[in-house]
Amino acid sequence: MKRMRKAGLGMASMLTLVASLGSGAAWGQTAPAGDAANGAKLNSMCIGCHSIAGYKTAFPEVYSVPKIGGQHAAYIVKALQAYKSGDRKHPSMVGIAASLSDKDMADLAAYYSAGPGKTASK
Ligand code: HEC
Repeated sequence: MKRMRKAGLGMASMLTLVASLGSGAAWGQTAPAGDAANGAKLNSMCIGCHSIAGYKTAFPEVYSVPKIGGQHAAYIVKALQAYKSGDRKHPSMVGIAASLSDKDMADLAAYYSAGPGKTASK
């Protein structure tokens, strides 16, 4: 009896966690739920630092910018939400993420998770 109740609670808090991650649409799915075409438009905010083609950064001497093209959509959304919530504190990304809605994040994640094969010209 006690064990069952515990298992029930665990499931409930897991659901709460998933729900608290915004739309959560990308979690555990292979196909991203975001709108990659809209993500491509929003990407103008990111391309200066996270250029997809060749993974070159605009300011390599200032900071090594992580590669996000080809990452899983869920990973990208989670990282953006962590910046927005303050869990991750890099000033550039906190500023950027603060301006993004959950839908923006999902759209950007859909765009980036499609990887360089789709978007890089060379
Ligand atoms: C001013 C430069 C700059 C801009 C603009 C920028 N980023 Fe970043 N981004 C960074 C840096 C630097 C990091 C690494 C910060 C850290 O170590 O936490 C980062 C980290 C990330 C990460 C986490 C990657 C990982 O592997 O942990 C994601 C996801 C990300 N950025 C997405 C975006 C998106 C989407 C945009 C556009 C909406 C954007 N960034 C705009 C510089 C930038």
